[in-house]
Amino acid sequence: MMIGRLPVTILFLVLVGFVSSPSVALASPEQDAADTGRLLAILLDSGRVTVGANQALINDAEKGDKGFTPEVFEKQLVEKFKERSGVDLTNLKSANVPEMAKKLLPQLVEASKQTVAENQSIINKKGVGFKGFIPATFGTHAAAKFSAKAGIYLKQTTQDGLLRNPANKADKFEAGVLEKFADPAYPRQGEKIVSEAADGGKILRVMLPLFYGKGCLTCHGEPKGEKDISGYKKEGAKEGDLGGAISVKLPLK
Ligand code: HEC
Repeated sequence: MMIGRLPVTILFLVLVGFVSSPSVALASPEQDAADTGRLLAILLDSGRVTVGANQALINDAEKGDKGFTPEVFEKQLVEKFKERSGVDLTNLKSANVPEMAKKLLPQLVEASKQTVAENQSIINKKGVGFKGFIPATFGTHAAAKFSAKAGIYLKQTTQDGLLRNPANKADKFEAGVLEKFADPAYPRQGEKIVSEAADGGKILRVMLPLFYGKGCLTCHGEPKGEKDISGYKKEGAKEGDLGGAISVKLPLK
């Protein structure tokens, strides 16, 4: 996914001639950042969901080599992301997404793949069932890797009453938006984000809600207080309750 400076410049010059579609030409920096933040959040969560879909395989104590390589993961991730966002990561150049997204989405794919790559020896360990490689730990590591490389704030967070990893604690803005998300009237469908300019208009904050599905409840569901497989106490949540959110900060120029 390395693209040199010169080809990018040439591509830009070529594209400028073509960009006549009003939706692109009229998009404000704020709209671009909101769209980019939404896509990054959906991509991070698609990685979490992909790990979740392979959980039984990953936890199989009988099996050594699981074949859950970074490449296999990437293929499933690309499929999941397309299903949810309509964007084809294998043909990002011609996708109708902001330039910022074209630059950042591949970097998050890379960080996600690296996270799977670095955990291969754990994933392929024979004789061990639960290995601690779950969507949440994947998400924490992939987001941290991406943030370090791209310089973009990206994290999973939740309300204080649900918080497991203190590093995921919500700041003031996040806590306020989480409250909105938790309202049963907030749409559960459509991946609807909340975005707001901050820091005197220098950045745009974007949040995507995560609602608990059936698969989440083995760890976050009933009975409240009982330990889940990861050793944390279950929160007693029900399907459709707010689990948390993915939070992004993007520059606004
Ligand atoms: C195998 C058990 C397990 C399952 C299944 C699971 N989680 Fe979690 N979840 C955890 C653990 C453990 C953490 C803390 C991870 C860490 O240390 O960063 C966590 C953390 C989180 C966080 C970050 C905030 C925090 O508390 O640190 C969110 C949001 C979250 N889970 C939502 C979900 C959603 C939504 C699902 C279903 C799509 C889900 N989880 C499925 C175990 C699970």
